Amino acid sequence: MRSTLFRLTPALLALALCCAACIDRTDWASKGPTEEDYSQQVMALGADVYRDSCAACHGSDGSGSFGPALIGKGHKYSYEEQRRLIERGRRSMPGFGAGLSEEEIEAVLAHIRVGFFAARNN
Ligand code: HEC
Repeated sequence: MRSTLFRLTPALLALALCCAACIDRTDWASKGPTEEDYSQQVMALGADVYRDSCAACHGSDGSGSFGPALIGKGHKYSYEEQRRLIERGRRSMPGFGAGLSEEEIEAVLAHIRVGFFAARNN
């Protein structure tokens, strides 16, 4: 009995560490928009693309539903990291590299990094 527990301990520790890393308790939404400047035109296109292609899984305000919350995550992931993920997808997140134009992907990045916050203040 004792030896079984000893053998299990490292596995349990690894599991606990893994869970701690997976659960993101940071309040990213409170960090506000990232510092890029986008034109009104890009922001408007981004809001449209987001509503049509992303809101169903990430919530209309980016607070998440089937997919994780996106609001404020521009402080967790770089522009390039987010761009790559949106283009290629990951697990249950579909890739949009083929379905959206480069202009639309750039616009939706503007929306998730900055636009969510503009919509909040209106
Ligand atoms: C079919 C549902 C679905 C749609 C549609 C969808 N996503 Fe996702 N998204 C997910 C899921 C699920 C994840 C988590 C992926 C994982 O577990 O690796 C995710 C992850 C992400 C992430 C990384 C979030 C993080 O904190 O790790 C970003 C950024 C993202 N999606 C942006 C978008 C954008 C932008 C669109 C629209 C162009 C979009 N998603 C459309 C389901 C979706």
